[in-house]
Amino acid sequence: MSGKRNLALIGFMGSGKTTIGRLASRRLDLQFLDTDVLLEERYGMSVREMFSANGETEFRRLEKLLIDDLCSRTGLLIATGGGVVLNQENVSNLRKNSLVLLLQAEPHTLISRIGSVDSRPLLATASNPVERLSQLLLERGEAYRQAAHCKINSDLLDADETVERVVTLYNTIAGEI
Ligand code: S3P
Repeated sequence: MSGKRNLALIGFMGSGKTTIGRLASRRLDLQFLDTDVLLEERYGMSVREMFSANGETEFRRLEKLLIDDLCSRTGLLIATGGGVVLNQENVSNLRKNSLVLLLQAEPHTLISRIGSVDSRPLLATASNPVERLSQLLLERGEAYRQAAHCKINSDLLDADETVERVVTLYNTIAGEI
């Protein structure tokens, strides 16, 4: 591997992948990329519009193509979409040249960090978004744990403290995986 190993942040919606990722990328001198934003730029519509126009399966197909592209590069901090671990090929691709770090938090923390569910189609279309969130979290828990090289629980941490742990983990482990 010629460049610096990527850092991929995985975790549920509201776990802080974008906020923490942006801050940590500056400290680690990695290029910050957010897969949802890249998809929105590439296809000229919001994630919500992608879900409603073409459905979740098509969104996942496009998300996978993007992950394939990103995994051929180095020096990136990739804030992934919360559902990226649903595809096992994404997981193996990411693990090949990225330290995969899971940001974990309890449902009540996630809900309060998400705020409005408008831009999150999987929650916005549910009659009870809190119930839906807990159910998805249960369904995906194992996939997140299996995909991750390491994890941080951020329930009791503020953004600066979480970034500090991300930086330490990357500097300690990224060279060893
Ligand atoms: C999704 C999470 C979203 C986005 C899409 C689907 C999911 O990204 O990719 O709405 O399945 O958990 P964030 O985790 O950045 O909100």
